[in-house]
Amino acid sequence: MCGIIGYTGNKDAAPVLLQSLKKMEYRGYDSAGFGIIHDKSIQILKDAGRIDDIASRVSIRTKKGTTGIAHTRWATHGGVTQTNAHPHVSCDTKIAVVHNGIIENYQELSSKLKNEGHRFASETDTEVIAHLIEKYYRIEKSPLKALQSAVKQLKGTFATLALFDDKPELVLGARKDAPLVVGLGKGENFIASDIVSFISYTDKVAFLKDYEIASITPSKVQIFTFDGEPVPVVSTQVAWEASDISKKEFAHYTLKEISEQANTINAALDQDEVKIVEFCEAIRNAENVRITASGTSFHAGILMRYLLAKLAKIHAQVFISSEIDHEIDLIDENTLVIAISQSGETADVLEAVKKAAAKGAKIVSLVNTVGSSLTRESKVSLPLNCGPEIGVAATKSFTSQLAIIYDIAFRLAGLDDKREQLNDLGRYVEIVLNQGERIKEIAEKHKLAADFYFIGRGLHFPIALEGALKMKELSYTHAEGLAAGELKHGTLALVDAGTPVIAINPSDETYSETLSNISEMKARGARVIAVSDKDNELYDEIISIPSVDPAFFPIIEVIPLQILAYYAAVERALDPDYPRHLAKSVTVK
Ligand code: M6R
Repeated sequence: MCGIIGYTGNKDAAPVLLQSLKKMEYRGYDSAGFGIIHDKSIQILKDAGRIDDIASRVSIRTKKGTTGIAHTRWATHGGVTQTNAHPHVSCDTKIAVVHNGIIENYQELSSKLKNEGHRFASETDTEVIAHLIEKYYRIEKSPLKALQSAVKQLKGTFATLALFDDKPELVLGARKDAPLVVGLGKGENFIASDIVSFISYTDKVAFLKDYEIASITPSKVQIFTFDGEPVPVVSTQVAWEASDISKKEFAHYTLKEISEQANTINAALDQDEVKIVEFCEAIRNAENVRITASGTSFHAGILMRYLLAKLAKIHAQVFISSEIDHEIDLIDENTLVIAISQSGETADVLEAVKKAAAKGAKIVSLVNTVGSSLTRESKVSLPLNCGPEIGVAATKSFTSQLAIIYDIAFRLAGLDDKREQLNDLGRYVEIVLNQGERIKEIAEKHKLAADFYFIGRGLHFPIALEGALKMKELSYTHAEGLAAGELKHGTLALVDAGTPVIAINPSDETYSETLSNISEMKARGARVIAVSDKDNELYDEIISIPSVDPAFFPIIEVIPLQILAYYAAVERALDPDYPRHLAKSVTVK
């Protein structure tokens, strides 16, 4: 849940590392640090806080040296302090490392290293890596061999980078169960957790696999296994552009990404025909279909289950990825597991698919980050094509997931006319996006609300869950999403005079029954904000959505909920792009 970047080349490393690290701030933002080789020594500059503040505190832009590493932290082991910020160094300060992941056996390793005379400065699990490399470098005299020996001692997950002060052009990186990708430049090379960090410098990449080590200098990239066997460096050109990661005229990435959805939904529908047919056939032929995901992607999974049942009469189960151990007995070689993930790096999702694959299940996936770990675990992986999503809250990736899920369900149900209508959705999305000011007023009116309840039936239930999740993570306000009929079974006790209830109630077969639930809440004083194409006197306020074919309401109605949560954050003077305690890519269990 941290971001790491290494650079070696013909430029001063400090500004390159700073710019690249900022692009990965979504991965963690409680501390940051830089290690830069200059005059045969490694300068370490690090602190707790946000990257920009630290960068000016340590005057990073003035630092000299053309090789370095940097880290943005989401703390797991050890408090948020300057000492615990990365890089961590060996006793002799000649080796520096940054790390993303968790070293599970760090206590055992550090007590052994302490007994051997190593002195530790921090409370982190990462520091053992620096000392282990130091130990083996003294014996092996080769940075590569020292890193190989060190990583073989580690249990847990890691993407780690190492600098050696006596090798001023070298950055080494090793990966196991955490992302690491090499950026192939001209006279310079990069190695990072995410392509977005270096995309303004190069769009040519080489993905590292688990148990591989990359060695980069300005003129050379080599990849080896942990056993030292050379591995071919396969260069891939990524479709993302530098402009995809700029905020453009928007105040926040989150708002920019919400606003992109008319286009990104269309991009999601642009799938390789052979692959999507293969994906559908896998569903049709499976005895047992299980969908798995976390967070927002899990909500897309619930909608997929509803759509497969409703349209294609296919029974699928959906489970939260971190619950895999309680599902595994029902997974076997006749099971198809459909994994959904924006990042393709969520540790819970990866663990679920690995455990399912070990039982013989076939894995297919919907993933935004091409080349990510999940794509590699999958027999077929359909890309979301929504471009980099930087805001920590998932927005455009969710509607892209839904667009593909609709396409799949329509194909399986033989509803080709509906598939064609999917291409018109962008037009309706624009109509909803034009309601930004109206939604902002509603957010302003409810800025003191302590709780929000989101309700919807059937296809609108996962959207209610998603609306509540957006409200919680962006505005730090308690919110619950419920199946509308479920509210009266307990949660209604919490509804009081003025409690805002967001009722997702478009004019489909759920309309009348949801209206009854709305009446029950009105009778207890709730203030009802409806998201609907049809007004009703029971509503205190309405966010109007266009009248579309009822099948498509979910994909349209979630957008006002994203906008509402965004403005709820802005009204509370919070940063919607980087909610506290969260990170976009949750690469720890
Ligand atoms: O990258 P993934 O889709 O696998 O991420 C799963 C969740 O961590 C993610 O959806 C999270 O819930 C978002 N912050 C929600 O906005």
